[in-house]
Amino acid sequence: MTNVVLKEEVPQKRTVYFFTKEEAAKKGMGKLFEGKYLESRVLCSGQGEDFCVYVGVGEDSLDLNGVKNICAKAVKEAGIYTEEICFSLAELGEKAGGAWEDSELVGAAAEGIYLAGHQPASYKSEKKKEKNHSVILCGMEPSEENNKKLARKKALAQGICFARDAVGKPSNLLRPEEFAREVEALFEGLPVEIEIYDASKLAKMGMEALLTVGKGSKFPPCLMVIRYLPVKGGEVTALVGKGVTVDTGGYCVKPAGSMAGIKGDMAGAAGVAGAVYALAKAGGRRNTVAVLPMCENRISPDAMLPGDIISSYGGKTIEILNTDAEGRLILADGVAYAVEKEGAARVLDIATLTGAAAITFGKCMAPVLADDDGFYGEFAQAAERSGEHYVRIPFFKEHEKMIESSLADVKNVGGDTCGSITAGLFIRAFAKGKPWIHLDIAGTAEADKTPVQEYERAGGTGAGAATMFELCF
Ligand code: BES
Ligand code: ZN
Ligand code: ZN
Repeated sequence: MTNVVLKEEVPQKRTVYFFTKEEAAKKGMGKLFEGKYLESRVLCSGQGEDFCVYVGVGEDSLDLNGVKNICAKAVKEAGIYTEEICFSLAELGEKAGGAWEDSELVGAAAEGIYLAGHQPASYKSEKKKEKNHSVILCGMEPSEENNKKLARKKALAQGICFARDAVGKPSNLLRPEEFAREVEALFEGLPVEIEIYDASKLAKMGMEALLTVGKGSKFPPCLMVIRYLPVKGGEVTALVGKGVTVDTGGYCVKPAGSMAGIKGDMAGAAGVAGAVYALAKAGGRRNTVAVLPMCENRISPDAMLPGDIISSYGGKTIEILNTDAEGRLILADGVAYAVEKEGAARVLDIATLTGAAAITFGKCMAPVLADDDGFYGEFAQAAERSGEHYVRIPFFKEHEKMIESSLADVKNVGGDTCGSITAGLFIRAFAKGKPWIHLDIAGTAEADKTPVQEYERAGGTGAGAATMFELCF
């Protein structure tokens, strides 16, 4: 992991300098460097190793995600030439035009830098080791507050990198129970209580929806619960994450061309694990319980079939009309359990749930459904601090009607339109009226070869973890 330190003085000579478009124009470098947002140029003195990097800030004021991106870019560019990088974060803050506290700037910069330095797990027989960099953020007092923020973001980045690597892990190396054990190992030594319910326990508990999805595989499902409860008697927020370690679609099998990312269908659970890890490590002050249903969705003589009617945790009945809409089934059990057994006062679920969300909203923002303005307000503020982009989608009674079944209480598909909304509302039906937020990260959970953020790499992104962390800290 990259090493980041703060330093109050700003030395004359730095490795990276920032320019707005206006300043770049004054420098008269023409097309060589215009100061556009995220533009970069390496300059060399011609005297051996003496070099520096210019990075553009653009002309508009930025949000914290912009700061994260610029810092990531600066470190990646300069990092090609040197292991020790130094720039003035105070100067970047001024040029980016935000009225941020120093600690907010430090937090965003650190997050961008740590994440940009993530070295994805490699399965090549010969491993390439990338350099480990050291970054000095100048113009920032190494005060207790700033250093605390740095430590918090380091914990968060570690959690996010765990989630990224889990998403990248092939399903033959990450069966549901192995996934649970890896998450358990991540939490070693931290003040949490962990429970892993195996299939026989799930049967006793009546987790029929999770068992139904999982029974198509010889690798059994499980439910992992992680309790981080720093406040005795305080309200509990439940984070429920979809942990489908592989989603073939079941009998409604996916076409071959849609199978590329099926090993990453546990990104929701991985993101929750990463967020709660960071909370426990950095001393978050709110009670948070992670509920992570884990399973494979496969075809076998035992697998669920379209038309099947099942029960679920708490007794609501479900008509299964599409076996590829499996995420909402396991989340139904997870959400009902979180409210009933963990006493959650409010519930957030997160999942790579619908292809429709990915197509509509793309890779830089995710749709959110929420039924409580207070809870959503807190979430939106958390997203402002994390820099992640979300867009709240409204829903109406007409949408709820779409998942009514003539045979059972609900059905697991809503028809051909607005699939992301009906998918979310299916899960809401199990939240027993508690304030509920639903994040569909089908688009944002994985980056392709040209990631939309400078601090991402191809593969898992850890989407959602940063905002859940800020929400529950
Ligand atoms: N895991 C998928 C959704 C998905 C698709 C995530 C593409 C990431 C990228 C989910 O289980 C699924 O298959 N959903 C179906 C639902 C449909 C059958 C109602 C979908 O979106 O097509
Ligand atoms: Zn599916
Ligand atoms: Zn799925």
